[in-house]
Amino acid sequence: MALLELRDVRAAYGTIEVIHGVDLEVGAGEVVALLGSNGGGKSTLMNVISGLHAPSTGTITFNGADVTTTSASARVKQGICAIPEGRGIFPNLTVRENLRLTTYAGVTAAQVEAIAYDRFPRLAERKNQLAGTMSGGEQQMLALARAFVVNPKLLILDELSMGLAPLIVEDLYSRVAALAAEGLALLVVEQFARTILPLATRAAIMAHGVITSVGTPQDIEAQLSASYLGSN
Ligand SMILES: Nc1ncnc2c1ncn2[C@@H]1O[C@H](COP(=O)(O)OP(=O)(O)O)[C@@H](O)[C@H]1O
Ligand SMILES: [Mg+2]
Repeated sequence: MALLELRDVRAAYGTIEVIHGVDLEVGAGEVVALLGSNGGGKSTLMNVISGLHAPSTGTITFNGADVTTTSASARVKQGICAIPEGRGIFPNLTVRENLRLTTYAGVTAAQVEAIAYDRFPRLAERKNQLAGTMSGGEQQMLALARAFVVNPKLLILDELSMGLAPLIVEDLYSRVAALAAEGLALLVVEQFARTILPLATRAAIMAHGVITSVGTPQDIEAQLSASYLGSN
């Protein structure tokens, strides 16, 4: 049985439906890449999985339990950690304050900081700096540090690379690869297919609110047009 299972999930903003019946599975230890052009519904789908946006119909099963109506905070405790599009940090708080908000059962605020600084020494140097004044790459390190702290079963990343220079993206994805190597399941939305496909065990394409294709990374890469793949 899959770790995460979506069955016929639909979601809307007001009366406008933007997710039109999605089935998707992520197995334990799998790295699933979700690709597709802007407006296809990827971020909405990620928010439905993390519990930030309620689906209108359909079911979401995680680790054997139906979590369709479970709150986002309860889903974190069950092992779903999501780094939303646009970094998901508090720009007007310092690095340390941001980390201390990542409270988690059995982990003290001091331990949260220690785990984050061990993985990302740069954050220790910046601990008293306002998060919003750091570089984009450092802000994503801060966002990613949360995933190491809460030790999830499934990590959801939505456009981690947005607005970042290629070398920074490479560094961040090497951290992501390390998480995958530790056995964490990942669902990764990424604009740059060539960044994520080498890490993926499976890939899917989403367009106009439906998943149009699921296959091996090789199959999916072959289906994507050269223009969509971009230049990186
Ligand atoms: N907060 C919102 N209110 C209304 N419509 C939205 C909102 N967020 C996204 N949409 C619409 O939902 C559709 C899917 O968007 P989104 O999930 O952000 O796609 P993607 O992440 O693939 O770019 C788009 O048509 C978008 O305009
Ligand atoms: Mg998006």
